[in-house]
Amino acid sequence: MENNKIDRREFLSKSFKGVVIGSLALSAFDIVKLVARDKHADSEAPAKTIKISDYPELASVGGYAFISKNVIVIRVSSSKFIALNNTCTHKKCDVDFDGSSFECPCHGSTYTKYGKVTNGPATKNLKSYKTTYNSDDNTLTINM
Ligand code: FES
Repeated sequence: MENNKIDRREFLSKSFKGVVIGSLALSAFDIVKLVARDKHADSEAPAKTIKISDYPELASVGGYAFISKNVIVIRVSSSKFIALNNTCTHKKCDVDFDGSSFECPCHGSTYTKYGKVTNGPATKNLKSYKTTYNSDDNTLTINM
């Protein structure tokens, strides 16, 4: 009968372990929720809308302009635009655009104006963003 009794010290020790394990389980659950939320955020890219009139280079077909540090917009027709990230997919140098194609100054990778890799060492295309042109108010929305 004496063996079934739990003394005060043992009771407190077991209670403390229970609280610690419960807290760790809750923390792990919060981390899983946080990661899931971040993945969800990536799939819903924020959109940026620009006025074409703010970028005179985009007024005519063939024109291009950087709308942020690494996002270039190229007008390919009267109503169609391409938006690309000019970060090389090889080792992240900024690629240069000459009006018809991109070339990386670091190791020579080249890409078409649509971002398709044409010469390595890069093997992946430039990151592109969906664009939506609104001719009514002459604006372009880029999902970045
Ligand atoms: S970083 Fe562009 S080719 Fe290496």
